Parts: sequence; C-alpha cells; structure tokens
Amino acid sequence: MTLEITHDLHFPPGFLWGTATSAHQVEGNNTNNQWWEFEQTPGKIWHGDKSGRACNWWEDAEADFDRMHAMHLNTHRLGVEWSRIEPEAGRFDHRAIDRYREMLDALRQRGMKPMVTLHHFTNPLWLERQGGWENPAVVSHFQRYVRFTVDALSDLCDLWLTINEPLVYLAQGWFRAIWPPENKSIPAIIRVYRHMLLAHGVAYQTIHALQPEAQVGIAMAVRLFQPWDPNSMLDRFAGSLKRYIGQDVWLQGAHDGKIRPPLGFGDYNHALADSMDLIGINYYTRDLVRFTPDPRKLFGEERYRPDGEFSDSGRRGIYSELAPEGLYQIIREVSQFGKPVYITENGLPDHDDDQRPRWLLEHIYQVYRAIQAGSDVRGYYHWTFTDNFEWSEGWGLRFGLIELDPVTQARRPRPSAAMYATLAAENAISHALVTRYAPSLLHRLFPKPR
Ligand code: FCB
Repeated sequence: MTLEITHDLHFPPGFLWGTATSAHQVEGNNTNNQWWEFEQTPGKIWHGDKSGRACNWWEDAEADFDRMHAMHLNTHRLGVEWSRIEPEAGRFDHRAIDRYREMLDALRQRGMKPMVTLHHFTNPLWLERQGGWENPAVVSHFQRYVRFTVDALSDLCDLWLTINEPLVYLAQGWFRAIWPPENKSIPAIIRVYRHMLLAHGVAYQTIHALQPEAQVGIAMAVRLFQPWDPNSMLDRFAGSLKRYIGQDVWLQGAHDGKIRPPLGFGDYNHALADSMDLIGINYYTRDLVRFTPDPRKLFGEERYRPDGEFSDSGRRGIYSELAPEGLYQIIREVSQFGKPVYITENGLPDHDDDQRPRWLLEHIYQVYRAIQAGSDVRGYYHWTFTDNFEWSEGWGLRFGLIELDPVTQARRPRPSAAMYATLAAENAISHALVTRYAPSLLHRLFPKPR
C-alpha cells in the first residue's frame, strides 16, 4: 500500500477572496463621462460596441452580489463614478451617493468587505472639457470629489484605492492615443502623470483626515519589464527605462515623497510622502522589451516569445502571454515597501473557459508562494465577475467567471466560477481541486515528499 500524504495549500485566516469591477464597465448608462461620448464615435471601439446597459449594476448590482455570496466570496472591489457623484462642477448628486450607499450596504449585509476605487479611467464631461488631467486644476477638483465621496461613504468602507493604473491611462490616452483624449503629446504626458501623482497624495491626506483608520492605496499595473535579450545593453536600458517611468517614479515617489524626473527634479512633496497604506497589484502578463530608437515608445517595444503560451482569445500583445511566475516576482519586489499587498486585478480573456481554470490555479499558487516567502498579501481580486465592457475592446474580450449576454442580461457561470467558489470556501488550493480542474499541475503544486 502506498500512503500518499498531501497537504492542501492553505491561505492565512481571513484572507480576502473576491472579484474586481470598475464603475463604467458594469453600471450601465454612464452617459455623463468621456468614455460614453467616445463610444458614440464610429470607429473607436472594436465592432462598434457600446457600454450601453453594461451589466445593469446601476439598476441591480444586488443580484450579482447574491451570486458572489453564494460563491463564498468575502470581498468585492468596485468603482464609484465621478460623473454620477459630481455631474456638474461643484454640484453633488445625493441620489447617486445614496445608490452607492445601498450597494456598499448590500455587500456588507452579505458578509463582503467592500474595496472602493475612486478613479478608474473615467472623467465627468465637465472636467474633460477643461482639459481633464492635463489641466493642473484637476488636483483640487479630484480632492473636492474625494472629500465629498469619502465623507459620505466612510461608515461603510475603509479600504480605498485612489487611482486605478495611472500608467495604463497615460499609455492608452496619450502614448498610444487610442483612448480619449487621443493626444499624442509628450509634454501632455508629463503633465498628466504629474497631476495624477499629486492628486493621489492629496487624496490620501484627505481620506485620512476624514477617516484615520482608512487603508488607502492605488492599483498599479506593475509589470516585469525584462530585456528581450538579456545580453543586449540596449534592451536592458529600454527595460529599465520603462520600469523607472512605469513603476519607480510612482511607487518610490509615493513612498519617499520625491517627484522624480521627468515629473520634477526630485523635489519633496509632503502630501505624497508615505502615501500608501497598501499596494494594489494588477497583473495580467509580463513584458519583454526590445530596444527601438523611437523616444515616443520610450525606446522599447514589447515582444513575446514565439514559444510562449498565449491566451487563445486575447489578441497577441494584450493580456496574451501566460506568465504566472511574474506575479510571484512582482509581489516579492513590491513587498520591499513593507506594506500589505492586495492583488487588485488578475484575469484572462477566455470566452470558452478552456484555459482559465488552470491559469487561475497557477496564478493563485504564485500568490501562495509569495506568502510562504514572507510577503504580506491580504487579498486576491479576480478580474472579473461577469463579462463586462472592456474599453476599446468592447464586448470582444470575455474576462468573466460568469458569461454575460449584454443584450438579454442572461448569466451563465463558466466552470472557473465553481472552482473559484471552492477555493474561496476552503481558503486553500486543495489537492482535490487541482486533481479536478488542472491535473497537469499536480506534480508542481504537490511534489511528492522525497
Ligand atoms: C485593466 C483595467 C480593467 C480591465 C482589465 C482587463 O487594465 O484596470 O479596467 O480593463 O485591465
């Protein structure tokens, strides 16, 4: 008789398991922001898709909260929409706040801790008309909006993300200029980046003045910018430059309060210093960087190994290469700041769910490894709950654990949903779960004792 001893891979007690969404992608009828306007312009969104009713959350998020609860999830990350809360400059809509209060309350009633994102790519039209994030006035506008919102919601939430993925917002709206405001201008990029960093610092202080016990951070698309050819000095240079601009300027700045070049000259900003109680990591893939002489690409182009494994529904280049170990490396890297880490997004476009179950287990296994190695990871938020409006990819990329038909609003759980529910209920990656959903991982996740 052979005796097989397997230990399930347990997460710390109280670990948060949830999913992440943003306001515009799920609420529906967010008619007063720049994305809605952009979607109405032909040629901007894949197949001419529109957010429309999205996932109908403005009307009935609660039905999905019930589903989350049934899946044993104990948290959810959601966004609030600036253009609903402050539809005109300085005029706040109390009905919008009441609806958010209802939603947060509904989550709490179902035993789910809310995490709220204050800015996730969308701006009220009035702000956009004034130049949006290019206009220095945005910093005080953001502060006013944050003060009102947090003051109105702080009895229901103490976990805040000021800004989602500043670098993605910059890259898409200015560097690549495929999202609004489609402005390929380097001076504008520097202005927007600087304003976002300053706005984060000011928002951090504003939230803490209202709610001293709040935990505040940002959600960063932290990426591993590895050189395509590790022996090439130019590839190494391009990789480090991307990493410096994409990560260090922000994370180090929010740590020591210095505004680094090209945003400043290392000048100290009091509000920014020590302005992260937590670090949110959004992780999808890694980047291999190949040097190019083009300064508008920051001297580097992303490449993917031809022999890598790719998402079969993502297009090459976006969310494409499956690279779970990068998540481990990133968690270990950001742990040096000594702050709790949350995986605020991690997901895969996979409409037929043939890759997601294994993908999910592999990534969550990397989170487990990082915790074992000493990182203080507090929660994992899968992107995302149901399929939703995926920005310029429209309804073309399907990230949901639950399939959604945006026309009929019918929902159908994919196999990954049941798997994630079991994982959350057990607070562990169990041998049985891996055997059932991804047997090819058994040897790696549960090596036989020697
Ligand atoms: C992230 C965004 C999120 C969603 C996922 C797929 O970059 O934060 O809104 O689009 O990618």
